[in-house]
Amino acid sequence: MRVHVADHPLITHKLTYLRDKRTDSPTFRRLAEELVTLLAYEATRDVRVEPFDIETPVAPTTGIKLSNPKPLIVPILRAGLGMLEGMVRLLPSAEVGFLGMQRNEETLEAITYANRLPDDLKGRQCYVIDPMLATGGTLVDAIRYLADRGADDITAVTLLAAPEGVKHVEEALADLTIPITIVTGAMDERLNEKGYIVPGLGDAGDRLYGVV
Ligand code: URA
Repeated sequence: MRVHVADHPLITHKLTYLRDKRTDSPTFRRLAEELVTLLAYEATRDVRVEPFDIETPVAPTTGIKLSNPKPLIVPILRAGLGMLEGMVRLLPSAEVGFLGMQRNEETLEAITYANRLPDDLKGRQCYVIDPMLATGGTLVDAIRYLADRGADDITAVTLLAAPEGVKHVEEALADLTIPITIVTGAMDERLNEKGYIVPGLGDAGDRLYGVV
């Protein structure tokens, strides 16, 4: 598994305002969107392309275009929705599928409570978006779900990650042979006893959409 921690002053600048508890929801949503566009640039470094012949006003030339099938962007509900717009801005021709996953805290089994994805993902490059890679449990379940349906290249894009969560994802998915990549805006210090990322930014869903 490849882990890429974005190291760019603009990303760290925007993350600082996201982390600040004084930042209100509208500003938080706008910053999250901007941040994702920057992260998406890194996350799509290996997006599949094919040659494409064109003519400029001066001469014929060969460029590239995105290959078919087009990449699939998969926001994990609900907080992943806050990253969708920024991702789609960079990949406007991508398709979007939705995955709502929740963990039963007693059995630790993942419950998929919403699923709008093609059944057959054979040959698909998938971009899973979820702001916080904390324990990694949801991400493991989501990646396995996509891989079981044939996705053959999966990149997770997160705003923040905790080292414990990244380690868990790596260990839990060690049997998968497809390329798995994590692109994150920052690797924070640790998880606290409640599973929150420290220093983190709090509950991403609540900060995006309010407490429900
Ligand atoms: N989910 C969040 O929204 N925040 C955390 O810190 C951890 C998980």
